[in-house]
Amino acid sequence: MSQERKVIVLTGSNSGLGCEALKQLLRHSTPYHLILAVRNITEMEKIISNLTIPSQHSIEISKLDLTSFTSVKSFAQGLLTRDPIIPLNLLILNAATVKFELSKTEDNLETTFQTNHLSYFLLINLLLDRIKWSSEQQESFNSRIIFVNSSLHKPGEGHNKIGPKLEIENLDGSKEYDGMLFYKNSKLAQMLLFYQLNKLLEEEKDEKKKISIFAIEPGFIPQTELGRESPFYVKLFMKFILPFAPFTRTPEQGGEVIVYAATSAELENRSALYINKLCQIDKSSDDSYKEDLQKLWWNISCELTGLEEKKLS
Ligand SMILES: NC(=O)c1ccc[n+]([C@@H]2O[C@H](COP(=O)([O-])OP(=O)(O)OC[C@H]3O[C@@H](n4cnc5c(N)ncnc54)[C@H](OP(=O)(O)O)[C@@H]3O)[C@@H](O)[C@H]2O)c1
Repeated sequence: MSQERKVIVLTGSNSGLGCEALKQLLRHSTPYHLILAVRNITEMEKIISNLTIPSQHSIEISKLDLTSFTSVKSFAQGLLTRDPIIPLNLLILNAATVKFELSKTEDNLETTFQTNHLSYFLLINLLLDRIKWSSEQQESFNSRIIFVNSSLHKPGEGHNKIGPKLEIENLDGSKEYDGMLFYKNSKLAQMLLFYQLNKLLEEEKDEKKKISIFAIEPGFIPQTELGRESPFYVKLFMKFILPFAPFTRTPEQGGEVIVYAATSAELENRSALYINKLCQIDKSSDDSYKEDLQKLWWNISCELTGLEEKKLS
């Protein structure tokens, strides 16, 4: 692998927005080494075999299952122990899930919360030093972490107007379970992590190690596979009727927002921005800015991922 290439880790590149972002990145003249982090390697290989990979880029596929902390650790370990050492210039956290029935992971946590929030919390903490180091190696490009979030982390928008409602005593869904609510909760938890992480990054004294973080909301995109577990009539409606509604976006447009946040030169040296579906800087939810909530959910995430040493006092 050429050391000139920027190294991008992209999760969930086998479907929906992740796949679109991949196709768009491949059109760039800037050389990239793309590490496609997916749970189904065979499916990803099939997709790659139908794409043209321009010679300036290189691709590898790596196993990552966000329902397993063991998988997250082994993915991170695999990156950090390479010889020669590789930089991590861009981490694009795109993969996510929505469950409609309560289910638990091998770590005995509710699946959506672990997939969409906790596993990323763990992954970021494991890779952060390498991402900072990678900024130091680049003259003109700070490393970036892109959080693919959703306007559903805000109250009163979209599907059924309930939530988000983060409750410590119902994190496992045992008191009551609403799959969409847990999805919204996971995205709010991610926004809280986003701002807390920014605070920690701002304390970084060494300017050369500065990294940028951006959260995006791609708009409502019914043609992706996110609703794969919904009833068949909902799926038909999502795939064949909703795409004609004026308020929906296409996977291509969603991919563009991710790629904008990941690569746009106008975002250089900026950070902690919430970018909307039109690639404009926007406000995230009021709750996401609450410092007590940011700290609380950071510390809860430390406990649940076994990162006790990262807890804030
Ligand atoms: N579509 C929308 O309207 C919309 C709106 C706002 C935000 N978003 C966000 O956009 C992002 C992409 O979603 P999408 O709409 O493109 O949905 P999608 O087509 O279902 O893609 C989701 C991706 O996440 C991967 N994934 C799910 N669980 C995983 C796990 N345990 N480990 C590793 N990968 C896993 C999936 O892989 P598998 O194929 O192996 O399951 C798939 O590649 C998500 O963060 C979503 O929250 C979407």
